[in-house]
Amino acid sequence: MNQAMAELLAPLTESRRAHSIAVGRRMETVAELLPAELRADAVIAAYLHDVGYGHPDLGFHPIDGARLLQTLGYSRVVCHMVAFHTAAEVEAGVRGLNAAVFDDFRLTGVAELDKADDFLWWSDLSTGPNGQDFTVDERLAEILRRYEPGSIVHTAITQAEPRLRAAAQRASGSM
Ligand SMILES: [Fe+2]
Repeated sequence: MNQAMAELLAPLTESRRAHSIAVGRRMETVAELLPAELRADAVIAAYLHDVGYGHPDLGFHPIDGARLLQTLGYSRVVCHMVAFHTAAEVEAGVRGLNAAVFDDFRLTGVAELDKADDFLWWSDLSTGPNGQDFTVDERLAEILRRYEPGSIVHTAITQAEPRLRAAAQRASGSM
């Protein structure tokens, strides 16, 4: 992680920062399985996937992060991966956000971008809220405990669970 990335993460809470760094490190361990041209971006996206928490605008951290990184000149791959990380579209739906907020970050024609997305979702889902190593089961249970039933995140994770598990399984199956 370079200085610019550390500065972007500085406004996050200490635990979110620890989580972010652990997700970045986890991606570093598997990035070599991605096409060479995606590796650096996948690692950057992993370190910065939750950066939007420290730079709120819309109040929806995947899009806040992607917009910030777009403004700063980060690549389209990085911005895409951050915008869509870990079933962000499901949570956006639960929040009643217009799906058009994702349009700037849709990306087609990039070979194995879906695999890079799966790797980020898996990295996030196998890392606890303070950066611990978690199984996907532990991680999903932890999120559902941390957020009240009926809350946006609890509802979104419940709805997204099959997609989250499928992505994590595809990722670990290709390792
Ligand atoms: Fe996140």
